[in-house]
Amino acid sequence: MRELAGKTAFVTGGAAGIGLALGRAFAQSGMKVMLADIEADALQAAVKSLQEISPDVSGTICDVADAESVERAAQASFDAFGRVHVVCNNAGVAAGGGIDHISLDNWRWVIDVNLMGVLHGIKSFLPHIRAHGGGGHIVNTASMAGMQVGLGFSPYGASKFAVVSMSEGLAHQLKPHGIGVLCPSFVRTGIGASERNRPERYGQSQPLDPTSPAAAMVAAIARNIDAGLEPDTVAARVLTAIRDDKLYIFTHPGMRDEVEARFAAILAAMDGVSPP
Ligand SMILES: NC(=O)c1ccc[n+]([C@@H]2O[C@H](COP(=O)([O-])OP(=O)(O)OC[C@H]3O[C@@H](n4cnc5c(N)ncnc54)[C@H](O)[C@@H]3O)[C@@H](O)[C@H]2O)c1
Repeated sequence: MRELAGKTAFVTGGAAGIGLALGRAFAQSGMKVMLADIEADALQAAVKSLQEISPDVSGTICDVADAESVERAAQASFDAFGRVHVVCNNAGVAAGGGIDHISLDNWRWVIDVNLMGVLHGIKSFLPHIRAHGGGGHIVNTASMAGMQVGLGFSPYGASKFAVVSMSEGLAHQLKPHGIGVLCPSFVRTGIGASERNRPERYGQSQPLDPTSPAAAMVAAIARNIDAGLEPDTVAARVLTAIRDDKLYIFTHPGMRDEVEARFAAILAAMDGVSPP
C-alpha cells in the first residue's frame, strides 16, 4: 500500500511499546488511528499523546483474547473513521514456560492473547477490508521467537511460531491485499511486565525460585529488553514494509545465524531420509 495518508490504521496493544510507536508513525504519516488496548489508563494517555500529532486519533478498550471485544473494537473503528485499511494485530504478553514449571494458566493466557488475539483481529476486519475496496494491509506481530527457539520450551515461542504460520498462510490467499509478519528480537518496551494485564480468569503467576535457571533466564531477558531496539525504529520498518508490500519484517539482522542453524538442522534431517 504505497499511499498511507488519509487512510485508517487499527492497532492492538496500542497503549504502549511497539503498538504505541506504530500509532505514532501512522499518525505522523497522515493516517487516522484507532488504538485498542486492555489497559485503560495507558490507553487514555497514549491517545492524548498522539492527538498532539493529529486530531484523528481515538482509542477503544479491547481484550484481544475475547472475540466479542475485538468485534466491538472493530465496530468502534468503523463508527469513528468509516473504512479501516491497515490492521496491526500487535498486542502480546509473555509468561514463564520451561519444563520445570508447566503452568496451563500461563499457556492459555499467552496463546489466547498472542495467537487467538491475532485470529480475532483477522476475523473481525478481513470481511470489511475485502468489501470496502479501498485497499488493505494486515500486520501481525510475531517475534524472532517465531523463527528460532532461543527461548526454549515456552508458550511465548509456540504462540509466535503459530503467528508466523498464520501470516505465511494468509499471504497466499489475501491478494491483492497485503500482509506482513513482524519478527523483532529485543525491543525496549514493557513486555517484561506483562503480568500487569493478566486477567483473573488465568489465575496468578507462580513466583520463580530466584536461584533457578528459569529465574536466571528471565533476568537475562529483562537485561536484553532494556538494551533493546527503540520501538520507533521498529515502527519505521513496519511502515516501509507496508509501503513495499513485504511479508517478512525483520529488525535485528544479527539473528540470521540462529535462523540458519535451525534450518540447517531441519534440512540435514531431511537429507538423511532415504527416498521411499
Ligand atoms: N519487546 C520485545 O522485545 C518484543 C520482541 C518481539 C516481539 N514483541 C511483540 O511485540 C508486541 C508488543 O509488545 P511490546 O513489546 O510493545 O510490549 P508492551 O507490554 O510494551 O505492549 C503490549 C501492549 O499490549 C497490551 N495488551 C496486553 N494484553 C492485551 C489484551 N489481552 N488485549 C489488548 N491489549 C493487550 C498492553 O496493555 C500493552 O499496551 C507483542 O506481541 C510482543 O510479543 C516484543
